[in-house]
Amino acid sequence: MEPLNLDEYAKVAAEKLPPMVFDYFEGGSDDELTIRENRLAWQRIMLRPRVLIDVSQRDLSTSILGQPVDFPILTAPCGVNAMAHPDGELAVARATTAMKTLQIVSTVATYSLEDIADAAPSGLRWFQLYCFRDRGLTRALVDRAVAAGYSALCLTVDTPILGRRERDFRNQFQFPLGIRWNNLVPYMNAKMGSDDEATALRNFVDNNWDASTTWETVDWLRQLSPLPLVLKGILSPDDARLAVAHGAQGIVVSNHGGRQLDGAIPTAAALGEIVAAIGEMAEIYVDGGIRRGSDVLKALALGARAVLIGRPYLWGLAIDGQAGVRRVLELLKAELDLCMALSGLRTIQEIHRNLVICPDRSGKA
Ligand SMILES: Cc1cc2nc3c(=O)[nH]c(=O)nc-3n(C[C@H](O)[C@H](O)[C@H](O)COP(=O)(O)O)c2cc1C
Repeated sequence: MEPLNLDEYAKVAAEKLPPMVFDYFEGGSDDELTIRENRLAWQRIMLRPRVLIDVSQRDLSTSILGQPVDFPILTAPCGVNAMAHPDGELAVARATTAMKTLQIVSTVATYSLEDIADAAPSGLRWFQLYCFRDRGLTRALVDRAVAAGYSALCLTVDTPILGRRERDFRNQFQFPLGIRWNNLVPYMNAKMGSDDEATALRNFVDNNWDASTTWETVDWLRQLSPLPLVLKGILSPDDARLAVAHGAQGIVVSNHGGRQLDGAIPTAAALGEIVAAIGEMAEIYVDGGIRRGSDVLKALALGARAVLIGRPYLWGLAIDGQAGVRRVLELLKAELDLCMALSGLRTIQEIHRNLVICPDRSGKA
């Protein structure tokens, strides 16, 4: 039976994927408090609809850094999509392009950034960057993203080192045979020596991710290419102000889907303060626990330009490749459209702050 909502997609994906892979996608750090709170925080926000407005015609289109999209739901950068389906990021590229939205491609994608761009050349996509100790490697990735037609760089700033994901320890997680980080393969081959693949990957992360990345690195990155820079993983208004001061044109309010600092504030709670801090000085996007069209509507009402979804598109991909990703996007878009109509809203631009009632800071609904 076709899943009716994203939670049902998760259930079907859980039946389809090997438990070790499903857990890798699903899991977060430590007690997974932030994963749970991400979801609950959207649910605690309530909507105050307006009525007797002609909502027979609706339009969900908007723009992201000046580029048109048909609706404000983007696919978040998630590593190793091919663990969900052999077509991996290629399928996501084709689905997002067909749906006229934006794909953010991870540094640790299974396919190379060039192959992903070639899979759907007319598509809109950004490249998500992790900063490496080897600045030559980082610079080479930026140059490749520019050459392959990516339209922005999205630097993930919440991962100086990896969070401790206990499910992966319990499952003794290893990448299935043949799964590689193809953007890094030439470089990794040179460094991996004779270790087995799992040990080599762990060592590669430990030895190569740059935990000393700072705002100076952001300045360095900005002058490397003409592409706009988006910082992903901002949760504090002070960091949002710094991001603007250092020339970021966008920020993603994100706690990495609860995979980094467990106990980090849910994004629905962080968003309002960040919007108040920087207003229109940069575009603000948000992700984490968005599972309903009403969650998207709440995010936009609080001032987000668009939302990103992570796990939900991986579920669609696991179930039916490109068509599955497309169905997940269509479902969430249709839910957003319905919620807008029921709230008296015809366009994304009409969505306003008075639509939402947030719990007060004491946590009461
Ligand atoms: C399996 C998986 C892999 C991820 N890989 C990356 C990554 O490579 N780079 C990154 O910036 N974020 C990564 N993320 C975080 C997502 O971009 C996004 O912030 C998060 O999934 C949003 O929460 P949601 O899954 O609840 O929608 C990953 C998330 C998951 C679930």
